[in-house]
Formats: sequence, C-alpha cells, structure tokens
Amino acid sequence: MAVDLLLGLQWGDEGKGKIVDVLTSKYDIIARFQGGPNAGHTLVFNGRKHVLHTIPSGIFHDDTINLVGNGVVIDPVIFKKELDKLDEQDVDYKKSLLISRKAHIILPTHRLLDAASETAKGKAKIGSTLKGIGPTYMDKTGRNGIRVGDIELADWKTKYRALANKHQAMIDFYNVDIQYDLEELEAEFFEAIETLKSLQFIDSEEYVHQAQKAGKSILAEGAQGSLLDIDFGTYPYVTSSNTTAAGACTGLGVAPNSIGKVYGIFKAYTTRVGSGPFPTELFDADGETMGRVGHEFGATTGRPRRCGWLDLVALRYACQVNGVTELIMMKGDVLSGFKTLKVCTSYKYKGEDISHLPYNIEEQNVTPVYTELKGWDADLTGMTEASQLPAALNDYVTFLEDQLNIPITVVSVGPDRKQTIVRS
Ligand code: GDP
Ligand code: IMO
Ligand code: MG
Repeated sequence: MAVDLLLGLQWGDEGKGKIVDVLTSKYDIIARFQGGPNAGHTLVFNGRKHVLHTIPSGIFHDDTINLVGNGVVIDPVIFKKELDKLDEQDVDYKKSLLISRKAHIILPTHRLLDAASETAKGKAKIGSTLKGIGPTYMDKTGRNGIRVGDIELADWKTKYRALANKHQAMIDFYNVDIQYDLEELEAEFFEAIETLKSLQFIDSEEYVHQAQKAGKSILAEGAQGSLLDIDFGTYPYVTSSNTTAAGACTGLGVAPNSIGKVYGIFKAYTTRVGSGPFPTELFDADGETMGRVGHEFGATTGRPRRCGWLDLVALRYACQVNGVTELIMMKGDVLSGFKTLKVCTSYKYKGEDISHLPYNIEEQNVTPVYTELKGWDADLTGMTEASQLPAALNDYVTFLEDQLNIPITVVSVGPDRKQTIVRS
C-alpha cells in the first residue's frame, strides 16, 4: 500500500501536529522521518494541550503504531521527558512506539556545539533551537555518529567517549564563552539512555516494507517546513535535514514510487521563527495582530514568531518540490476581522515581475507584489461545516486554489481537533 505524506509548506509550525492527530484514525502507522526535538507539534483535544517533539503525533490513539524513523535524530533526555509526560496521562506507548535502530543520537556535546557555533556566528546566527540538530546531522554525514542500534552493543561507551572528547576539543576551538558541566549532563544522558533502551528498537525499513506489503496504511509526518529544507530552503537559514517529500523516502526507506497522497499544510498567513529572509514579513499593526491572535510563540523555544502575509511564490515552489496533491489551510480564524487581506502573488526581482522563488530572496533582492482580497468578520471558531464559512473566506480559498492549481480539502478554524472543516 502507498505511503501518504503530510508536510509543512512554509517555515514550520503550520499545524502539522494537529492535522496528523486528526488524520490518525485513518492510518495504521504514523511515522516521523526527519528532524528531532527542534520540532514542536501541538495537539489539542478534550480541553488539553499536548506538545510533542520527537514522538509522532499519532501517539494518543490506542490502535496506531508510532514509528520514529531512521532519518530522525533523538535526544534521549528530551525523549525521556516526553515519555514522562505520556506516563502522567496514562498513555500506553510500550507496544505502540517503535524506534529505528538507524536513527542517530544527539549527545550532550552536540547541543553544546550548537550553542558554540551560534555564539561564534554572532549577528549571522541561524537562530537555531539549540537542540544539537546541526552538529548531529554533521556527524551523521561525516560518518562519525552514534545510532540507536549502537547502544545495544557492549562497547558503545568507548565510541561515545571518543566522540565526546572530539566535540570538547571543537568547542574549545570556537573560543567562546560556553559554560557547562559535562559530568552532570552525562549523568542525565546515560539515565535517559536506559529509558530509551526499554523501548522497542527495530529495523524500521524492513518493518515499513512488510507493513506496506500487508496492506497497512502509513502516514509519514514531516517536521519543520519546506523553506527550512537543507537543499531547498532559505540556506543557510535552514535546518539540517530534508524536510521535503524526498526526505520521507530516505528517512523511512520508502521507495519513491510508493508515495501516495501528499498533504501540504500551510497557514492562511506566514510565520517564521529564527533568522533568515522573509519577503512578506510585517512590522506593523497587522503583523502584531496575527502574532497576538494566533498566539505565535514557538512550541519548542517560546520565541515570538515573525508574522506576515501569505506568500504564494514560496507556496507554489513548496507544492512543486513536494508534489502536493491536497492542501490543508490552517488558522483561517486568525484572519477574522481584517478588512483587507493581502496575498503575495509575484516578486519584483531585478526590475522584473517573477512568479518563481529565486536564489536570493533577501529584502534587497525581492519586493513582494500583492493582490488584495476582501476580509471576513465572522468568528469561525465554532463552525463545523463548510456551508457555515463566510463567502469572503470561500473566495480567499478559491483564489488560492486557482493560483496553486491544487484543491484545499481542509480548513482549520481553531487549535482543537474538532475545529477542523472538511471541504468537499
Ligand atoms: P506544527 O509544528 O506544525 O505542529 O505546529 P505548532 O504546534 O508548532 O504550531 C501551530 C500552533 O497553532 C499551535 O499552537 C496549535 O495549537 C495552533 N493551531 C493549529 N491549528 C490552528 C487553527 O486552525 N487556528 C488556531 N487559532 N490555532 C491553530
Ligand atoms: P516544527 O516541526 C519552526 C528553525 C529554527 C531556526 C532553524 C534551524 O515545529 O514545525 P535548528 O534547531 O534545526 O538548527 O534550527 O530552523 N526551526 C523551526 N522553526 N518550526 C520548527 O519545527 C523548527 N525547527 C527548526 O527556528 O531558524
Ligand atoms: Mg512547531
């Protein structure tokens, strides 16, 4: 059976966690394929909010398998904290949570290296979540990493020590003021490793292959968003993994010809957290309203998210790179009350009007060209049926569908599972 994908099309935080949770009842397996605890996926149901970082967003459904794929990087300390939270809520994950032996492990010194690298960059810093993502993927591609399967081996601590020592020398080389107590960090790390070991480690590509053969339905849950992709994002202000569709193939061992639906998820406006270009960013009262009404603060770091109008140049690009088959529009409710909405339909670039994403999208290179649409006033948060949606919102959605040539099948009108409207 084909594997479906759910991918963020902007700079992350589109609402992936919410929609994966909503879709989980249709799937046997939910699988994360890249990223790590830099992600913060929020789920809201029964009056409670849950934030997941590494654990797939299907974990609250009893009959679903949740797989952490080979492309993911795991920080055992953060993972243990996530498990502790699940324990508090009596979520029985022992049978349903599976970990790939090929997933890489984030060491305490990876986190320190992240901090040293960012400090050394000064003003040019990426705005990393400082979870050690970049350094861990560097060790993966540099063929130095420690994988989940390694911690089952007797001599893995020797390998650990050698790598941690090397990292310490690298931290010294940066010559920046990073205070740390490695002994304390390691005590916490090794304790968390024991917790990790109590879970089921599997050869996940074989598991996925057999599941496909047995007709099981699988949804791959993306982290971050297409514009943070290491190849296709706004480099160097990106994360260190392939967040786009191809990442699901390498991060799970799924063949490209067995990808089915590709759900592309986007906010009705745009947000970004951390550094890097953002052509439609607002610095006025409209941006402030989006941030306030949309509660735009990072689910992992708590940092305020930068806000701006929807950018169709960037969205079109993301749809192309991913082969999106269905679109899901989030946070429509946040735009209620704007008299006029702007949507960027092209960029002015070197004196020309262009509709593709060029190499340089910094402020000095591109100026967004906007189309104005009528806003709506109604409070959408109590709506449950497409027929209740205001005409101006339907016009906004239809405009986007025409521009992107892909149907928008779901409109989300609030953070709760129930605040999800399916369009025919
Ligand atoms: P993810 O990283 O893509 O899973 O997204 P985050 O959880 O980081 O950020 C999305 C935020 O928007 C969370 O606080 C969600 O609870 C919230 N959210 C999701 N969908 C909606 C929606 O339709 N309306 C509103 N107002 N909030 C939403
Ligand atoms: P979810 O899955 C939003 C951003 C960081 C920084 C850059 C690199 O919740 O959508 P990293 O920690 O990977 O070195 O940071 O990427 N970033 C995210 N922004 N949502 C995320 O994940 C993000 N994960 C990383 O803010 O700009
Ligand atoms: Mg998030």
